[in-house]
Amino acid sequence: MAGLTTTKAPFIEEAKANGELYIRQPYELYSEENQETWRRLYARIRPRWEQYANPKFMEGINNLALDPHAIPHLVDINKFLEPLSGFKAKAVSGYVPAYVFFDSLRNREFPTTITIRDISTLDYLPEPDIFHDVAGHVPMHTDRQFADVLVRFGEVARFAAQHAQEIPNEDERVRIIESIIKGMARFFWFTIEFGLMKRPTGGLCVYGSGLLSSYGEIAHCIESPEVQRYPFQLEWVINQYFEIDHYQPLLFIVDSFDHLFSEVHRLEEWIKDGKLNNLSPGEPEVNEDDLKSFLNASVGVGV
Ligand SMILES: [Fe+2]
Repeated sequence: MAGLTTTKAPFIEEAKANGELYIRQPYELYSEENQETWRRLYARIRPRWEQYANPKFMEGINNLALDPHAIPHLVDINKFLEPLSGFKAKAVSGYVPAYVFFDSLRNREFPTTITIRDISTLDYLPEPDIFHDVAGHVPMHTDRQFADVLVRFGEVARFAAQHAQEIPNEDERVRIIESIIKGMARFFWFTIEFGLMKRPTGGLCVYGSGLLSSYGEIAHCIESPEVQRYPFQLEWVINQYFEIDHYQPLLFIVDSFDHLFSEVHRLEEWIKDGKLNNLSPGEPEVNEDDLKSFLNASVGVGV
């Protein structure tokens, strides 16, 4: 049986070929091996969550009643999630262009991958999978304050698209929006995906989903002397390139979700002031789809 293994699922290939971004979760297609992958991933990381994750994440795991023994049904997850923060997980076939992704957050919808990594590569895969999205991201969405950070980020994306579309010269418009998208992607990476937070009792904990879904890196990011950990500094974060295919050598620490929220607000102010118009080059690449998604976003310019 083909199952719903990442990069090897005919159901997903077909959806992509038909141009379908939002899809159903064809639960009956998960193979026994897919289920075993979930069980192994969950069982080995659970003690590390208890040790390293921020307390809101653990509350989220409990509030979602996430099953250690079976891949979750998104409809079940949403029954618990929606009453808590208004968020819902929405199944997608694959890559979501940057603006569409951020705008989903503004609408309290989280584009969610439904495939699961191959059982032979539990540790690393470059693509997101359901373990990263549902066990790494979604528990954080149960927290009102964190959910509001994501919504605010979506509002900033909308503001950025609006701001860019008002630039009359086309070359200038493309150059500036490309730089802004890069800055937003870096911000998202160093917070929502790989953020660290101070513990009120001293020490650090993890709130970034890339860390929360990695058995190796969740410990490495806190324990290893090779990782540089600095207080969050907006001018640095938006100019700092990153690579996705190895453990992160540099991470940023926020004080609280309140602090994070205020930095997202500041990001918008900085876009307004032109401070994101010419960021340092380097990763991430802004692809054509990301660019178009911002340039063609319907944001009611002139209304
Ligand atoms: Fe992610």
